[in-house]
This record gives sequence, structure tokens and C-alpha cells, in this order.
Amino acid sequence: MKETVLVTGGAGYVGSLLVPRLLREGYRVRVLDMYLYGDEALEGARGNPNLEEVRGDIRDRDLLRRALAGCDVVIHLACISNDPSFELNPALGKTINLDAFEPLVQEAVHAGVQRFIFASSASVYGVKDVENVTEDMPLEPLTDYSKYKAMCEGILARYQSPDFTTVTLRPATICGYAPRQRLDVVVNILTNHAYHHRKINVFGGEQKRPNLHIADMVDAYMLMLTAPANRIAGKVYNVGGENHTVHELAEIVRGVVGDDVTMETVPTDDPRSYHISSAKIAAELGFRPSRSIADAAHGLVEAFEKGLLPNAMTDARYFNIKRMQELNLQPTAQAA
Ligand SMILES: NC(=O)c1ccc[n+]([C@@H]2O[C@H](COP(=O)([O-])OP(=O)(O)OC[C@H]3O[C@@H](n4cnc5c(N)ncnc54)[C@H](O)[C@@H]3O)[C@@H](O)[C@H]2O)c1
Repeated sequence: MKETVLVTGGAGYVGSLLVPRLLREGYRVRVLDMYLYGDEALEGARGNPNLEEVRGDIRDRDLLRRALAGCDVVIHLACISNDPSFELNPALGKTINLDAFEPLVQEAVHAGVQRFIFASSASVYGVKDVENVTEDMPLEPLTDYSKYKAMCEGILARYQSPDFTTVTLRPATICGYAPRQRLDVVVNILTNHAYHHRKINVFGGEQKRPNLHIADMVDAYMLMLTAPANRIAGKVYNVGGENHTVHELAEIVRGVVGDDVTMETVPTDDPRSYHISSAKIAAELGFRPSRSIADAAHGLVEAFEKGLLPNAMTDARYFNIKRMQELNLQPTAQAA
């Protein structure tokens, strides 16, 4: 029998594709999540005897202890997971994205977990002029969301030991279809507008934004589970796919959705340009993304056509900020 993996935030966008994959590959999976974006994300996996779902808050230390009992690996995804949702309630965001982190790591060590995989973000670098931002470059996060990711990386590094392998991934922005859908990330926004409005507004356009197909993101987490401990211990890896300008992304999406889609360039007050290098994970672990931006757009179009994403322009579940506004959570742990 393979290991037992605790996935915090396993009912989120990435988790909703990762958890079924872990189950298919024979892992036992425990999900700890508040299900902020609904119960449906893991519907397809329910009934699998290797899946256990714990509904609750990572800020609840007693619950953490119970959820970690018997786990070999933690994949930590739970988070207020973008800048606007974070800024809606910074006090709440800090309790989840920063304050809960070290207790989680400590409880993981205490429970005998052997490997801890942390979802950081490529946004920890801030904006740099160099063409390819590598892992050794200084972190200059521009927002609290990114700053706390960077601080958590530092905390985790202190717990690295021969018995506790820690590894941090810094993913690019994710795109493509998953059972819990986010339509508030750039490629998905463009595809949603192109498909439903036959029109794309391109804000700015010349800024580069690295993106990664969600299935490649899942592959990267799977690799972190199986890579020999001595190869990844204490390491940090960028994980990105294609670096494109927003204008290029819009052209790719239009190429998939249809030539009738019109494009309009609109001035932006967010001219930030990112471009990350994912050469380290390729060189050290042989990881190379295998899906394209066009694949991600195709996947979304297929989902729209099958009716898998009803009310795609309006349902708050697809837009983290709208959903967080609806929920109005408090900066204290929610009882399980
Ligand atoms: N999606 C991206 O483009 C992207 C890019 C880089 C990094 N990441 C990181 O990857 C991780 C997963 O991202 P995602 O897009 O799947 O996010 P998501 O918002 O879809 O999922 C986050 C999950 O965490 C849960 N959660 C939030 N607070 C919680 C709490 N206090 N206790 C328990 N559960 C809680 C939510 O209910 C949700 O299911 C996040 O850490 C994010 O910062 C995402």
C-alpha cells in the first residue's frame, strides 16, 4: 500500500484534480478543507475507500493533530489564494496564509510525517527585469499574499531534517479545466469571455505572465511524492510552462475559441511583467510540462459545451473574490 497523503485545500482548484489522481495511483488520501467553494469538487471521488474528507479549518490546531494522525506526506494547498481575496480581509488572510503555517509544520513533524510539499507561488519574486527569473534570485514580494508565501518558505526550511523532507514549489498561474473551477486566473478569464461574450478585453498586453496547465501542476506534485528524498530535500523549484505576453495568450485563446472573437486593448494600471525559468526542475528532476495554453483553452471550451460550468460569467464559486465577499469569514478559526 502506498503512503497516506494529507492534502490541505484538497477541495480547491488544484486539489480537485490532484486528489482523484492520487487515488488512481493507489495513495490513501485525507483532505482537510473548509469547502469554501462548494462540496461538489470531490464528488467524483466520493465512495472511494481510500478517500477521507475532513471538513474543517487549518487554523484549528486540535483538528490538525487529528487530521495528521497516520499521515506520511502533507501537500499544503489551503490558502486564501489570490491577491484580491487576500486584500478583501488582510487580517483573515494572515491567520490562514501565515499564522496557521508553522503550527501545521510542527504538528506534521510531531505526527511523524516524512515529507512536506508546500505550494508557494512564482509571485514571491516580485517584478524583475531579467529575462529568466531563477530560484536563487532575491524574493521581492509586492503583496501580502506573496510576502506570506515567502515567509512560509523560510519557516519550512528551518524544519528540514533527515526525517522530514521539505520541498517548495513556486508555480506559475494555473490554467485549464478542473472539477472545482476557477475562472479568475488569466487564461481562464480570457477563454470564458471569448466563449460567452465573443469578445476579449486585453488589459495592457505586453506584460509577460507565465502560465501552467493544471494537469502539469498535478504531475509536478506527483513527482514530489516519488522523487528520492535526497534529491529534493530542502529544495525550491519554479514550475512554469510557457512564458507569453497577455496579448499572445489572448491570440492563442482566440485561435481555439473562434475567429469571430474580437479583441480590444484596454489600458491597465497593472503593467507587472513576470517571466520565470523552470530549467532547474527540468535539469534536476526531468520535469517538463507537456500541455500547452491552447490545450487549457480547449479543455475549458469542452467543459462549457458539456454544460459542466453553468452560469460561468456570474456564479460566485468560480471567482474567489466574489465568493469571499459572500462568505464574509472572520479572522478566527471556524469550528469544525
Ligand atoms: N491557482 C493558481 O494559479 C496558483 C498559482 C500559484 C500558486 N498557487 C497556490 O496553490 C494552492 C492551491 O491553489 P488553488 O488555485 O487550488 O486555490 P483554491 O482557492 O481553489 O483552493 C484553496 C482551498 O483551500 C481551502 N481553504 C482556505 N482556507 C482554509 C482553511 N483555513 N482551512 C481549510 N481549508 C481552507 C478552500 O476551501 C479551497 O478549497 C494555493 O496555496 C495557491 O496559493 C495557485
